[in-house]
Amino acid sequence: MAAEGQAAVVTIDGPSGAGKSTISRLLAARLGFTYLDTGAMYRAVALAVARQGVDPNDAAALDRCLETIELELRPQENDDVLVCLNGEDVSAAIRTPEMALAASRISAYPRVRSKLTQLQRELAARGGVVVEGRDMGTVVFPWAAHKFYLDASPAERTRRRCEQLRQRGENPDYQEIMAQIKKRDLDDSQRDLAPLKPADDAVIVESSTMTPEAVVEFMLARIRNLVTRSS
Ligand code: DC
Repeated sequence: MAAEGQAAVVTIDGPSGAGKSTISRLLAARLGFTYLDTGAMYRAVALAVARQGVDPNDAAALDRCLETIELELRPQENDDVLVCLNGEDVSAAIRTPEMALAASRISAYPRVRSKLTQLQRELAARGGVVVEGRDMGTVVFPWAAHKFYLDASPAERTRRRCEQLRQRGENPDYQEIMAQIKKRDLDDSQRDLAPLKPADDAVIVESSTMTPEAVVEFMLARIRNLVTRSS
């Protein structure tokens, strides 16, 4: 599956709200792999930067801030993963629309990307892993044998995000959420460094009319087909 000495990695990239987290978790469980949410890492860095009041354009201050950041992803028994920033559980604090936009902004900075890219490679080296993000198949794990690009229409992604927020007891405004999703799509795909785009060898999955289970079955079939053909 992977090149010699490299762990088995399945990459899932795609725009916000495409269902990457749900699919990555389900797929990881089916494969007996762990799951790595790299968006959560960018969100945690954005939280640290905001809390420390650092101007990300001040390279020296950003470097100092990055040095203070200790990130840990702690898998729980219920398949959840706690995101810990310097030992503090920030899993809830990073899941706000403000932190999503802040993460998108901070992710354009080269220093932030190189720190997190290195950490992501270290974490993935421990064993089979499903990694989700924006640049998994293009930049962080270009050698991965199985790459997917998960997409859905902006309307469907907005509907899913609103549903998620309602389940958390919030009362989202559809138009506002749609505007946030479109802004992040644009920012994430137009930045110079590691922009959101499908890897040339990624399988594109347009999931607007698919259930999560159908997406996972489709991915498993692709993975098994490739493994069978190459063995
Ligand atoms: O997947 P998410 O919504 O939690 O990601 C938040 C932001 O982090 C996203 O808008 C862009 C950035 N990000 C990135 O640049 N590269 C990744 N691999 C993952 C996320």
